[in-house]
Amino acid sequence: MEKVFIKDLQKFVDQEIEIKAWVSNFRSSGKISFWELRDGTGYSQAILSQASLSADKWQESNKVTLESSVKVIAKVSKHPKKEEYELQVEDFEFYQIAEEYPISKKDHGVDFLLDNRHLWLRSSKQWAIQRVRNTLIQATYRYMQENNFIKIDSPILTPNACEGTTELFELEYFDKKAYLSQSGQLYLEAAIFAHGRVYDFGPVFRAEKSKTRRHLTEFWMMDAEMAFVDLKENLDTQESLVRFMVQAVLENNQADLKILERDTKPLENIVKPFYRITHAEAIKKLKELGSQIGENDDLGAEDETKLTQEFDNPIFITHYPAEVKAFYMKRDDNKRALCADLLAPEGYGEIIGGSQREDDYEVLLERIKEHQLPVDEFQWYLDLRKYGSVPHGGFGFGLERIVTWVCGIQHVRETIPFPRTIYRLRP
Ligand code: 4AD
Ligand code: MG
Repeated sequence: MEKVFIKDLQKFVDQEIEIKAWVSNFRSSGKISFWELRDGTGYSQAILSQASLSADKWQESNKVTLESSVKVIAKVSKHPKKEEYELQVEDFEFYQIAEEYPISKKDHGVDFLLDNRHLWLRSSKQWAIQRVRNTLIQATYRYMQENNFIKIDSPILTPNACEGTTELFELEYFDKKAYLSQSGQLYLEAAIFAHGRVYDFGPVFRAEKSKTRRHLTEFWMMDAEMAFVDLKENLDTQESLVRFMVQAVLENNQADLKILERDTKPLENIVKPFYRITHAEAIKKLKELGSQIGENDDLGAEDETKLTQEFDNPIFITHYPAEVKAFYMKRDDNKRALCADLLAPEGYGEIIGGSQREDDYEVLLERIKEHQLPVDEFQWYLDLRKYGSVPHGGFGFGLERIVTWVCGIQHVRETIPFPRTIYRLRP
C-alpha cells in the first residue's frame, strides 16, 4: 500500500492509499461520519460510512476525539464541485484516542493560547504562518546563494554590544561577563575581508522592556554585509531581496494566505520600485499627519504606523540624524547617518535596518569613545580599518517582522514557534 501525503492526493484518484494523520475536526450524521484529517502537508475530508466498514470498526470510529491520531486506508475521490480530494475510508486504526483537547473552536484569550503554544501550533492559522515563514527562510538562502554571498555563522556569546548597551542580556562566563548577541554584524564586517559578501541567519537577543506588538526578546535576524558598496547599492540589494522573498510566498503559499485571509493585492505591488525618502521628508510628512515629532527625533512605533499607512509599498527612510543611530554608521557632512530603515507598508513599520559603515580608523575610534564603549573590546573591530579598509555596508532584517507583514497579522508573537517576550519564557 502506498503511503501518501495529503498534498499529493490529486495524483491518486481512484487508488487505494494509506494516510497517517490527526483528526482536526469531525461530525457525524447517523450512518456517515466525516473526519477532517491533517497530516502536516494539508487537510482532507475522510468519509466513513457504516455500510463500508465492519460492525466493530464502525463502532470504534465513534470513539474519535479531536486530535486523535490515525492510520487510514482509503480510496481517493475528487470532490464533485471543488478542487478538493476526499478519502472514502475502507479501514482505519487509531494510534491514540486523544484526551479532551483544551483548544476548541470557540474563541480563547490570547494568554490561554500562548500558555498552550505547544498545542496552538496545530491550529490552521498557526500552521499557515509557519509555512509562510519557511518559504521566507528558504527564499532568503536561495537569494543569497545566487547573489554571491557566503554564509558565515557569527557567534552568539559575545564580549561586547553591537546595538547599544541598554538591551543586552548579560550572563556569567566563567570569571567574566558575556552578552548574548544582538546582531552578528560586527563579525560579518571582519568576514567581508575574506569573502567580499557574507551573511548570517540566526537567533539574536534583545532585553526589550517594551511590550509592543513588534518586539520579541529572542528573534531571528539575517545580517548581510558587502565590501565595496555605497548606500544606494546596499538599498538596491535589500529591495531585490525583499521582492524575491515576497514573490516566493506569492508563488508557494496561496493556500496559506487564504487561510490567513490575507489580501494579496498589497503584496503583488512589490514589483514596483520601493519609495525612498529622507528622514527630514518623513518628519515633514508626519507633521502634516498631525504628529508632534521633533526634527531630530527617531521614529517611534506609532510614527511608523502612521506613516506607512500612507504608502502602498515598502519605504526606505534614509539619512537619520546620526545621534539616534548606532556608533558604527558612517556620516555625511550634515551629521546625518548614511543609513536606511526599510518600513513595510499598511502600518507595519520597520523590517530592516542598515547602513554604510565607518571605515576610517581615527573617526571610528572617536565614535567608540563618544558612545562610552570599552575601546579594548573593540580593538579587533578597529583593526579592520588598518588592514585594507574599504567602503562597505550592510543590513539586517528581523524575520518575524517580515512574516508578520507578509501574513497580514497583528502581532509578531504568532510568527515564531515559541515566542519570548518580557513576560513569557514558557513553554
Ligand atoms: O535595526 P536593528 O537593530 O539593526 C541591527 O541590528 C544591525 N546591526 C543590522 C545590520 O546592519 N546588520 O535590527 C535589525 C532588524 C530590525 O529592522 C527589525 O526588523 C528587527 O531586526 N528587530 C526586531 N524584531 C523583533 N523584535 C525585536 N525586539 C527587534 N529588534 C529589531
Ligand atoms: Mg533599527
